[in-house]
Amino acid sequence: MNLRGELHPTYTDLREWLETVEKLGELKVVRGAHWDLEMAGLAEIVSREAKGEAPAMLFDEITDFPPGRRALFGQLDSVGRLALTLGLSLDQPDRISCVRACRDKLSKLELLPPRVVPRGKVQENLLEGERIDLFQFPLPRHHELDGGRYFGTAHCVVTRDPDTGWVNLGTYRCMAFGKNSVGLHMSPGRHGRTARDKYFERGQPFKVAVAVGADPALFLASTMAVPAGVSEYEFAGGLKGRPIEVFEGPYTKLPIPAHAEIVIEGECLPGETHDEGPFGEWAGYYANNGLTPVREPVLRIKSLWHRTDPILTCAQPARPPGYNFAFCVFRSAMIWDELEKAGVPDVRGVWCHEAGSSRLFNVVAIKQRYPGHSRQAGMIASQCASGVYIGRYTVVVDDDIDATNLADVVWAIATRTDPEKSIEIFRRGRSSSADPAVSPDDKGSDRNPAAVFTSKAVIDACRPYEWKERAYPVVEVSSELRGRLLAKWRDEFEGVL
Ligand SMILES: Cc1cc2nc3c(=O)[nH]c(=O)nc-3n(C[C@H](O)[C@H](O)[C@H](O)COP(=O)(O)O)c2cc1C
Repeated sequence: MNLRGELHPTYTDLREWLETVEKLGELKVVRGAHWDLEMAGLAEIVSREAKGEAPAMLFDEITDFPPGRRALFGQLDSVGRLALTLGLSLDQPDRISCVRACRDKLSKLELLPPRVVPRGKVQENLLEGERIDLFQFPLPRHHELDGGRYFGTAHCVVTRDPDTGWVNLGTYRCMAFGKNSVGLHMSPGRHGRTARDKYFERGQPFKVAVAVGADPALFLASTMAVPAGVSEYEFAGGLKGRPIEVFEGPYTKLPIPAHAEIVIEGECLPGETHDEGPFGEWAGYYANNGLTPVREPVLRIKSLWHRTDPILTCAQPARPPGYNFAFCVFRSAMIWDELEKAGVPDVRGVWCHEAGSSRLFNVVAIKQRYPGHSRQAGMIASQCASGVYIGRYTVVVDDDIDATNLADVVWAIATRTDPEKSIEIFRRGRSSSADPAVSPDDKGSDRNPAAVFTSKAVIDACRPYEWKERAYPVVEVSSELRGRLLAKWRDEFEGVL
């Protein structure tokens, strides 16, 4: 593997992936931190305040746990780690190049079914019955106002649609309710939630497997809006160019990531619920019922496998910017892909801003080709599968604007829009119980949740099409003059520029 050039996602599991992360100089091992607030708190500070790329943080010798029972935070939050995960070049000059590289991968993606193997590395240790105890692992409590410890925050939840047999993976948080049960927080409309609702409507148990420390490409796929009917196993296999290896769970009959770090299998029974949360969420608020827990289904664990010295993978959502770099890049690529598939030409960049937690403030740059092009791009970006979840603001800019640069984007909004003509408001769009802009009064009660909606704005910050050829010239040193000046004066400004 050439660490500077093209990477090949040949790793077979998280541990091989981590070895390369270490060689890249992007792994910080921290010994002696406490599972209660310290691990997640340090990860949050580092992800927000690191000079340069924030490293992945591997906690070991965690208070109350023997050495080897580890926890990993900040897994995908750098260009290098995302490149390693997907087999992209590490030499990406800027964010849009990262998005382009992912976009390129998506455009060539061929789905690859998982391969069933007789035995997976996760099957090293099996716990059943009374021996099942989630608190053998250093489950973190993330924030001071959180209501408990979480087994699953950077993981894959495997479910099957009862009608079609389609196997879906999604990342839906799992709070530890007890030593052998967890919660499953699935927002309405999530594929796993739709499957759950179908089982419960029929009065049937909902069988589920949860894999922590799965293949990083599979984890990434499980957080993205992979189309309904497509399994994230096939999608991640396609991203990697090799099948994801699985074994069949004896209880659930679900395919389970064979080389994950920890796996549980079990079922939720219709009507059985437990208090879940509060949990500090991705938008930077306790917006899901404030500081009052909500009732969520109970996943009763029938079997638990783990590798020796397992690594618990964790994500610490918080006020941005922070933990969501890979999600910003990959969601941007997915939106770009959907725009092109919907026939929107000349997209030059897409960026889901960190400040919007990769979901709330998204920018599309285009080269305007015809009247209405910019509105078309904005409306589709705000409604496509990858952009529709809240997706409150979508800004469309001309291609001289760097979509990733907030100052550039705000300059375009401030100087190229007339609010009355440039902002389209779309009403009763998709929202979420996690939406911090929806009043508690409009969310209903825990036992009787209300249907929540949000309006969405498409801000068309492109130069008005009809006079764009006569648009006022921009005041700026030309790139040609810039080059000449720097060639002549660079020494004078050494240390300044
Ligand atoms: C770290 C992380 C945690 C997440 N936690 C949840 C969650 O608890 N509940 C939820 O509904 N979605 C959560 N999501 C979003 C879903 O994983 C994402 O929308 C995914 O596409 C869902 O899969 P599906 O499209 O197959 O339903 C999370 C995403 C990330 C990146």
